Amino acid sequence: MLDKNQLEKYNQEHLYEYEKLMSNNEKNALEDKVEELNLEDIQKLYQHLYVNRQSIDDVSSVSEVEYEVKSKFTEKEKYIYEQKGFEAIRNGEFAVLLMAGGQGTRLGYKGPKGSFEIEGISLFELQARQLIHLKKQTGHTINWYIMTSDINHEETLNYFKQHHYFDYDSNHMHFFKQDNIVALSEEGKLILNKDGHIMETPNGNGGVFKSLKQAGYLDKMESDHVKYIFLNNIDNVLVKVLDPLFAGYTVVHNRDITSKSIQPKNGERVGRLVNIDCKDTVLEYSELNPEVANNFDNANIGIHTFKLAFINSAVDRELPYHLAIKKLKQLDENFGVVELPTLKFELFYFDIFKYGTSFIALQVPRKEEFSPLKNKEGKDSVETTTEDLKRMGLI
Ligand code: UD1
Repeated sequence: MLDKNQLEKYNQEHLYEYEKLMSNNEKNALEDKVEELNLEDIQKLYQHLYVNRQSIDDVSSVSEVEYEVKSKFTEKEKYIYEQKGFEAIRNGEFAVLLMAGGQGTRLGYKGPKGSFEIEGISLFELQARQLIHLKKQTGHTINWYIMTSDINHEETLNYFKQHHYFDYDSNHMHFFKQDNIVALSEEGKLILNKDGHIMETPNGNGGVFKSLKQAGYLDKMESDHVKYIFLNNIDNVLVKVLDPLFAGYTVVHNRDITSKSIQPKNGERVGRLVNIDCKDTVLEYSELNPEVANNFDNANIGIHTFKLAFINSAVDRELPYHLAIKKLKQLDENFGVVELPTLKFELFYFDIFKYGTSFIALQVPRKEEFSPLKNKEGKDSVETTTEDLKRMGLI
């Protein structure tokens, strides 16, 4: 039996009532899960992020990050960066890390977002092709680390298997799962999902480095003599996966973090790369007043390189959770299925920036390097990404 007093203390007494309606197996599963959870921490998170939430309006101490604009480079500079990049890639100094654990709810597509196909070519294939091309150019097979989550892990593996890993060497592909965290109702209560288990959702992309470590891959990188991790999102169809110029730029500047950015449009729903109190970071669009966001010139497009030594030094440090409210299917008190606004807690990978000591951004042309697939229709949709892929001759 669940401990009623303990549940009441942490605002979870409803679980005691739910338990009465459950079979023995369900009761056991519920008790085991509740035992595993730290109810006190969950309530603190709820109070901090929902009850006492604050938006970021005061930006008096926020300034622009240090950045350079790629279109201002001379041909000679570009050539030098590219050659440096090729050399480092050939020497095995780079690993590539793809974050593909997200849900893609806005796109309204059921499968893993990477398996979404545009004119018969999936987002995964668009990226795999580039690594194959790099192998041809350098003779080196880059290790490709792909983060999935409980909601898409099996499907992602099957998708790659079915497509014969797009002819990439599967010994150099490493899939690993991110963690989950409980979701809560707006009243701060634990929720049962459609299967009658305590609802958990992927804990955001900020768990990426811890999960990489837990899977043993930071150690693998170290023993492979990797120096830098190139990280990117799944949904930018124009992403240049480990483009040699950016690789060279990373090596030459040798900062803890090197980011690509673009000039944002007014009101655009993208994070802003900024410097706060001498620390570089990303202010996320969902937490930022749009008028404030418009003051900054560098949008986060989810493309970064990190020094492996920096990641090793920062991976065990704490990152803050952020709140997202999404409508999710769940059981009500009569065990009927309902869809309700639900509090999801997410870590953001860029919160690790604050533990770094050096940073630079390279601002690149949007037309050549950023076209994300976020929505079914309108902006950043199947239509716009298809047009952009055609314009760039990629499909
Ligand atoms: C993200 C950035 C935002 C940037 C924008 C550019 C974050 C938190 N925000 O926003 O600053 O301007 O991309 O397109 O990254 N993912 C996981 N696990 C999760 C959640 C997400 O692996 O639990 C992955 C997604 O699969 C995706 C990436 O992280 O590859 C970004 O997530 P997404 O939900 O697309 O973030 P945006 O809100 O678009």
